[in-house]
Amino acid sequence: MPNMNNYLDEYDDYLEQFDPMQNDRQARRKRKAKPRHQPKKAEQAIIEEIADTSGTLEGGFETTYQPSRYEEGWLLDSVRSFYEQALITDVVSKVKGGKEASVYRCLAHDSVEKTYLAAKVYRPRMFRQLRNDAMYREGRTLLNADGKEITDRDKREMRAMKVKSGFGQQMSHTSWLMYELNTLESLYAAGAAVPKPYASAMNALLMSYIGDENMPAPPLNDVLLEQDEAYELFDEAMRNIKIMLSQGIVHGDLSAYNILYWDGQITLIDFPQVSQVESNPNAEFILQRDITRVCDYFIKQGVDCDADQLSRDLWEAYGPVRDTINYNE
Ligand SMILES: Nc1ncnc2c1ncn2[C@@H]1O[C@H](COP(=O)(O)OP(=O)(O)OP(=O)(O)O)[C@@H](O)[C@H]1O
Ligand SMILES: [Mg+2]
Repeated sequence: MPNMNNYLDEYDDYLEQFDPMQNDRQARRKRKAKPRHQPKKAEQAIIEEIADTSGTLEGGFETTYQPSRYEEGWLLDSVRSFYEQALITDVVSKVKGGKEASVYRCLAHDSVEKTYLAAKVYRPRMFRQLRNDAMYREGRTLLNADGKEITDRDKREMRAMKVKSGFGQQMSHTSWLMYELNTLESLYAAGAAVPKPYASAMNALLMSYIGDENMPAPPLNDVLLEQDEAYELFDEAMRNIKIMLSQGIVHGDLSAYNILYWDGQITLIDFPQVSQVESNPNAEFILQRDITRVCDYFIKQGVDCDADQLSRDLWEAYGPVRDTINYNE
């Protein structure tokens, strides 16, 4: 088992700082009363580079969607930078409040080629769940807000500068989001059926919205398919799993719940727990579980598929190259 203690501490501290759902009134009052920490100049430069704290709280951003008292502060803080970057002009409705995040339909700015964009805003609660997800994190390095690896040298420098501990937590947090953004970017570029990513902020991701003004795309799980279409979409799902594998990654939470269906097309979503094939020793197990869940759905739609066989074949074709003994040498 990986050593999870560091992660636990980090996320506990993080929760204390940010979780608006906490019933601890005192903590909430303390948060309100306390102005944003103003670090020294050099620290500030690094924090901006890694954690992207550039969004200000000023500038009259009002939304058509009326958030509840509990979500308001978190939502507006989370999407404000998208508004300031002229990517969205409004939050129109809540698409869904998921376990880890809530997704909102936003009106895209005129400069964007789409009418709507989807903002996925992570719940502070998500970081509690990440504790159970150390399995996915194995073999990962930390990423900064540009998606670049944070090196040991960076970490040494930060330690030398006595950067506040909260900063380390923000770094893990930003790193987590960067994985989802990076994954979407490279998969989208490779022609995978994933939402087009537009931007990420401290706890939010902006991507293309699947659906229309009347309804968001339903998850495939809610859709009954004719057999022909079922075979077509099963092939499409497998094509996407192969694209991921060819990029060295496994989705990690793939199922008919994380595949959207719209206009006869599927779109794979929800990538924060992506695992690396090369460095994560659990990757084969995770791949097999993803494929099994996808097959479970398609078997119900009349597709004849064998998840174990498919997993074995794909792992053989795309899994890491293991050292083999060459008897000719
Ligand atoms: N780009 C999008 N366009 C339209 N709807 C979306 C988009 N992304 C997500 N959704 C909707 O929001 C829901 C939650 O998104 P996602 O699965 O990424 O987050 P989650 O926190 O893992 O949620 P869950 O726990 O429900 O899986 C999805 O099931 C889907 O209904
Ligand atoms: Mg999901």
